[in-house]
Amino acid sequence: MGLNVAVLANLKRNAPALPGLPPDTWAELDTEATTDAIVAALRAAGHRATFLEGDLSLVEKLPVLKPDICFNICEGHWGESRESHVPAILEMLRIPYTGAGVLGLGITLDKPLTKRLLAYHGLPTPAFQVFRRADEPLDPALGFPLFVKPSREGSSLGISASSVVHDAAGLRAQLAAQLERFRQPILVERFIRGREGTVGIIGNALADSDPSTPVPAGLELLPPLEVDLASYPHGEGGVYTQRIKSNPGDVYYFACPAPLPAELTARIRTIAAAVFQVTGCCDVARADFRLDADDGDRPYVLEVNALPGLCPGFSDLVLSAEAAGMSYGQLINGIFDAACRRYGLAAGEPAPTD
Ligand SMILES: Nc1ncnc2c1ncn2[C@@H]1O[C@H](COP(=O)(O)OP(=O)(O)OP(=O)(O)O)[C@@H](O)[C@H]1O
Ligand SMILES: [Mg+2]
Repeated sequence: MGLNVAVLANLKRNAPALPGLPPDTWAELDTEATTDAIVAALRAAGHRATFLEGDLSLVEKLPVLKPDICFNICEGHWGESRESHVPAILEMLRIPYTGAGVLGLGITLDKPLTKRLLAYHGLPTPAFQVFRRADEPLDPALGFPLFVKPSREGSSLGISASSVVHDAAGLRAQLAAQLERFRQPILVERFIRGREGTVGIIGNALADSDPSTPVPAGLELLPPLEVDLASYPHGEGGVYTQRIKSNPGDVYYFACPAPLPAELTARIRTIAAAVFQVTGCCDVARADFRLDADDGDRPYVLEVNALPGLCPGFSDLVLSAEAAGMSYGQLINGIFDAACRRYGLAAGEPAPTD
């Protein structure tokens, strides 16, 4: 028999409706297209799967459903560690779950914290400064152009062509606007001019894997996906903007595997595997990078997504998996089985069909 699985997500449909919130506030949350597809993929593999909204009602519903494990993709609603809320509830209830834990999700939601950790481990990430006020002095080591973005958002919330600033006046205006909108520290980074891509990672490094191997046994790296930013209208400014990400009906310009020299692909894979491990990711993640056109395509990690989007036929991770010959069902069950192995849960034989 398969396992009893609760699929936990925060649906846009169930998001808190409070007056005064900007219309894109819940851009990161999921739709039923994703949760239905995850439930179907798990059922097709012989498990029982039930969707539950990831809110405080879990405290009552989970002890009734008694899942063996949860498939967690909850983005959370509020707070500096909002992605950690549901995992914290699950740990208090002592229920296993897929994906990074409370700490890993806390780290990776916070871009400056992630970047400090990457820098500590010698992994390349653009030089940066964090602003809590719009008038803080700029570190003289940071030259223009600079890139301005919120510290703890995703789905390119707040990111448009005007995130690239070319002078002090532009920087101060963007800082003021983003501090006002997001009410959180704002990250200012060196602007990396160049190609952009993302690498999906599935699995977990085996405890006895050889530390000298670039990609440890147990981690599966999907082929890098390059977003073809040059094919988008000039108005996007060569940036992977919120507008590009939020138009599922539009054509999406990308190449997977990214047409890169073999050595560069190998270097990116090594970096992505290291990023996964030092930031506390588990079972799945997606690392975003840029290649510095002004420095021989040197790769820089922009951020790591410990809860990458899983929208069928749309999310970058899903498209990368397809390019690797992996169906949606194989991707979901690959993540799920990695979590089961981590907890020592037998994923079990498929249930007999009736
Ligand atoms: N330092 C930078 N230099 C150049 N472009 C950048 C930089 N930082 C971010 N960008 C651009 O902004 C986009 C969004 O940035 P980032 O990936 O940090 O945000 P996000 O909203 O967390 O994304 P996701 O949807 O992957 O969660 C990048 O894909 C890239 O196009
Ligand atoms: Mg990103």
